[in-house]
Amino acid sequence: MAFRTLATADRGAVRTITINRPDKLNALNRETIGELTLAFRQAQQDDAVRVVVLAGTGEKAFVAGADIAEMTGLTPVQAQTFSHAGQVLMRTIEGLGKPVVAKIQGYALGGGMELAMACHLRVASEKAKFGQPEIGLGLIPGFGGTQRLTRLTGRGVALELCLLGQQIDAARAERLGIVTRVVAAEELDASVDAIADQLAVAAPLALKGILDAVIEGGECAIDQGLAFETQGFAIAFSTEDMREGTAAFLERRKPTFHGR
Ligand code: COA
Repeated sequence: MAFRTLATADRGAVRTITINRPDKLNALNRETIGELTLAFRQAQQDDAVRVVVLAGTGEKAFVAGADIAEMTGLTPVQAQTFSHAGQVLMRTIEGLGKPVVAKIQGYALGGGMELAMACHLRVASEKAKFGQPEIGLGLIPGFGGTQRLTRLTGRGVALELCLLGQQIDAARAERLGIVTRVVAAEELDASVDAIADQLAVAAPLALKGILDAVIEGGECAIDQGLAFETQGFAIAFSTEDMREGTAAFLERRKPTFHGR
């Protein structure tokens, strides 16, 4: 299906989903959120896709936030629906069961930072800027920012960024653990490709086991989280991929994983 606000492209097992509203710095309106949710569900269901890269069109912005022009006219009930739709998108990404890498070349503000935080890995250009500027609009983050930022950085930093609303550069975002890796602008594409390629040949069921254990297990009390991990560990022993991975190590060759 063709999207109006997105472009998708496959390179082997890597699907790239690109938000395509550069004249609005890829701001997230209702249509874009709906299309992104659909695009991620399609990637989830397609066995040929093992990794997703999420990007924004243009040099200036990954995503400069929720669409302020659209938000300004919303009633509280419509705002609730909008926040819910954004949160469903973020949970769809987070719970995809396949790794999602955000490629951040410029602004990741408000809903853009929330979108990046829902991805599993974030690779940023040294020119990228991050922030939760909603306070300046008389708003609070509505797509999970108060929750994911707190989990990523702790309460102190989450309160600082949300209460003061200032932008931070990529280097500080990396120090705070918001960003996985910062690279020179001209190296961003190659760095993301290299990470995606590595993930594309990794054992898919083991990747899913790790994502489930860290993301869902991480929300539980320790004994429940550990039970999650044991379950995933045991399930891995039922896979061809685990036999292949261990055999390849012992035979001193590279493994080939099929997701079985
Ligand atoms: N929603 C809707 N439109 C947005 C937008 C957003 N979040 N962010 C940028 N745009 C639009 C601008 O309105 C402008 O559109 P126009 O050319 O039709 O007037 C276009 O994108 C370019 O943005 P502009 O502000 O001219 O670029 P800039 O380089 O001067 O500033 C930013 C860049 C990111 C600092 C600035 O656009 C900004 O502060 N955006 C809002 C960030 C924000 O508060 N996000 C949280 C929303 S909850």
